[in-house]
Amino acid sequence: MIKIPFNRPYHTGREREHILAALEGRRTQGDGPYTRRAESMLQELTGAARVLLTASGTDALEMAVLLSGVGPGDEVLMPSYTFVSTATAVVLRGATPVFFDISPETLNCDAARLEECLTPRTKAIMPVHYAGFSCDMDRLMEFAERHKLLVIEDAAHAIGAKRGGRPLGSWGQMAAFSFHETKNISCGEGGALAINDPALVERAEIIRDKGTNRRKFLRGEVDKYTWVDLGSSFLSGELPAAMLVGQLEHVHDINERRARIFSDYMKGLGGLETNGRIVLPKPGINEQGNGHIFHVLVESNHVREAMRLALMGQGIQTTSHYEPLHASPAGRRFGRVAGPVNQTDSCAGRMLRLPIYPDLTKSEQEQVISAIWDFFAR
Ligand SMILES: Cc1ncc(COP(=O)(O)O)c(C=O)c1O
Repeated sequence: MIKIPFNRPYHTGREREHILAALEGRRTQGDGPYTRRAESMLQELTGAARVLLTASGTDALEMAVLLSGVGPGDEVLMPSYTFVSTATAVVLRGATPVFFDISPETLNCDAARLEECLTPRTKAIMPVHYAGFSCDMDRLMEFAERHKLLVIEDAAHAIGAKRGGRPLGSWGQMAAFSFHETKNISCGEGGALAINDPALVERAEIIRDKGTNRRKFLRGEVDKYTWVDLGSSFLSGELPAAMLVGQLEHVHDINERRARIFSDYMKGLGGLETNGRIVLPKPGINEQGNGHIFHVLVESNHVREAMRLALMGQGIQTTSHYEPLHASPAGRRFGRVAGPVNQTDSCAGRMLRLPIYPDLTKSEQEQVISAIWDFFAR
C-alpha cells in the first residue's frame, strides 16, 4: 500500500470558487475573463510581453516551433534528456531534433557542448530547465546571439524559478510552461506560451485560433474573420483557466514550500553523499529553484531499482524519469545525436525522484530520508 505517494496534487482552496464563478458566468469557451486573468498573472510573473494560455505544455511547444519558422532541412538543438514533446514539436514541422548531452550536476543540458552541435542547418536551441533549474543561460544566449539562433525555452518545470533574479522563461524569444497535474501550478492539463519578442504576438494569436484572425474580429478591427495562416485549436477553456487562477494566486507560497522540502532533502541526505553512496543535485549559486523535482543519483541501475523497491516496501513511492530520446525508436528515426551522450545514458538509469509537494509533512519527509539511510545501512 502506498503511504507516501510520489505526487499529491495540491489544491489551494481557491479553485472551486473560481470554477463556480466561471460556470455561473455561462462562459466556458476559451479566451474569456479567466483566460485573460491567468494570462496577465503569468505576464507579471515571467515579465513576458504576452502570455497565451494553451491546452497543454505540448501545445505551447508546438506553437513556439510553428512561430519560429523552422521547417524541413532545419536542425534544432535540445538535450536528449527531455520529454518527447520538446522533440515532437520540431519533427511535426519537418525539421530534425539534434540531441546533445546533459550535465550530471543538474540533468540539465550542458551548454559547453553547443559548439560541437552546430551545422549550417542549425536554426534554434531548446534548453530544458530540468527540475526548475537552468543551464548556463548566459553562455547559451551568447552562443545563440553569435550564431543568430532562436531560443525556445522548455520551461515546463520552471514556473516562478529564476536565474540571477531573472525569471526562467524570459531569456529566449519564447518559452513553454506546463500546468499538468504533476507540475507546481496545475489545472489538470494545461500550458502557456510566453512570448518575449513582441513582433511574434499577432501571429501567435492567429496560430492559437486555428489560423484565423478571429481575435482581430473580436476587437472590432475587421468585420468578419477568416483563415489567414497555419494554426490549430491550441486554446484551452475557461474552466481550466479558472482553476489556474486559483493556483496562481498562491504560486509564491507553493514554490517556497516545495523549495524548503528540496533544501531539507539536501540537508537530510548530505551525509550519504559524503559517504559516497549518492550524488545530490548541484544547481549553480545563481539559481533560485522552485522545488519542482528532487532527485538523487546512485551508483548503478541495479542499486536504483533495489532502492526503489526497498522504499516501495515501506509504502514510499519514488520514480525514475525520461528515457533518453536519442536511443528511443522515434528519436533514432527522426533525430540525430551530436557529440557524446555518455552522461545522458549514465544518469537516466541511475536517477530516482523522491516525493515533493507542498503538503508533504515534516514527518513524511523524515520517513523518506530515514528509509534511504536504512537502505544504504543494509
Ligand atoms: C520538459 C517537458 N516539456 C514538455 C512537457 C509537456 O507538458 P504537457 O504534459 O503539459 O503537455 C513535459 C511534461 O511533463 C516536460 O516534462
